[in-house]
Amino acid sequence: MPIKAIKGMNDILPEEAELWQWVESEMHRIFGLFHYREIRTPVVESLEVFARSLGSSTSIVEKEMYSFEDRQGKKIVLRPEGTASVMRAYIENHYDQQDPLARLYYHGPMYRYERPQKGRYRQFHQIGVEVIGSEAPMIDAELIHMADYFFKSLGIDDLELEINSLGCMVCRPEFTDKLIAYLTEYKADLCEDCIRRLGKNPLRILDCKQEKCQAVASEAPSIQEFLCQNCEEHFDDVLEGIGRFGSSYAVNTGIVRGLDYYQRTAFEFTTQHLGAQNAVAGGGRYDGLVRLMGGPHMPGVGFAIGVERLVSLLKEKSLTKTDQGSLVFMAAIGTAAGNKAVKLVSELRKQGIRVEMSYDGKGLKSLMKRSDRIGARYTLILGSDELDKGVLAIRDMQEQSQVELPLDDFSSVVTHIQGG
Ligand code: HAM
Repeated sequence: MPIKAIKGMNDILPEEAELWQWVESEMHRIFGLFHYREIRTPVVESLEVFARSLGSSTSIVEKEMYSFEDRQGKKIVLRPEGTASVMRAYIENHYDQQDPLARLYYHGPMYRYERPQKGRYRQFHQIGVEVIGSEAPMIDAELIHMADYFFKSLGIDDLELEINSLGCMVCRPEFTDKLIAYLTEYKADLCEDCIRRLGKNPLRILDCKQEKCQAVASEAPSIQEFLCQNCEEHFDDVLEGIGRFGSSYAVNTGIVRGLDYYQRTAFEFTTQHLGAQNAVAGGGRYDGLVRLMGGPHMPGVGFAIGVERLVSLLKEKSLTKTDQGSLVFMAAIGTAAGNKAVKLVSELRKQGIRVEMSYDGKGLKSLMKRSDRIGARYTLILGSDELDKGVLAIRDMQEQSQVELPLDDFSSVVTHIQGG
């Protein structure tokens, strides 16, 4: 029996990894344009980093964490998300003293013991952003716009931005009471999970995917009617800011998010193309979190993008990076040609041209097959005939044409390849 990967954890093979690299390079480029700076934290953290911050009744903490005891009996977990890790690092390194308004981003694997299905895995990857140190609604607007800009830079222009305000510690309790009273009336119509949620996390019932729960939720009181004046103004300003940046949105009072740390702004970017797991990104404001985790009072807001879902969308839409330059295959036949060719390909790579060369002494026919297989645009042919004539044959694999250029005229070889 061959050894298999762990259920819900995927290999990313080279064809797909190219898309991942593209996504990651756009992440660095776009986030850099907004002067967000990268932070890297360990994959493994102490259990307490997540236990309190995410909320004891959230499904992640209740049943989805990969937790272990290390050799000294310390409880550790594979991080289920990035926000709490970043807050831990922020507090531990007193980062507020270095940068009173920290704009941070990160990327890497996260782990949740969920039931695997399309778009939902046990190891998945996030690209995340956190801004710590400001309550200004324009910060929310800027980072939402940055996410929108990032998606568009990859060619994805049809995501829906759904946004809501979850209120704050002042106004949410009254809403929660009203919601519980309403939902209790319709308890018999709720699914088993929601009946359980009713006592612990009633807001989550509003985004249950079960049809019968959605019917109940559609008539439920709306948080929008309970927002205090501060929260209402904040939300209005966030929406206005998003508009000012030129991004569009839809207010959806069903966006409640699955983690307890959120206050005020909550949002998701959703798609019609991926079936049930339709959230490509989610985020919101968490003004009490740094304090809750033992740090100073620092407001914060952020989001995370699911990279597997994003890459599925790119594949679905056949979007790929276009400006990689021509791929070249060096077909050298015989030892003398091979030695000469090694120098030539090194020079080509210095010019930024991608080259693969074969070293296993095969004949022209099999070398041409390899060139075809890797999708090379040009095959450079150097055998004893070419060496005798002092030329390099360049075969254009698309046009099915061939030219010979002087072997010592390196710059015309480069020009020919880069012109194609
Ligand atoms: P989240 O909504 O739990 O938020 O996850 C963000 C995104 O990660 C989701 O929209 C989805 O695309 C992806 N995702 C989540 N779980 C899985 C899974 N099992 N398989 C594949 N993709 C998944 C957070 O994690 C927050 N930390 C976001 C945040 C940052 N809020 C403020 N700052």
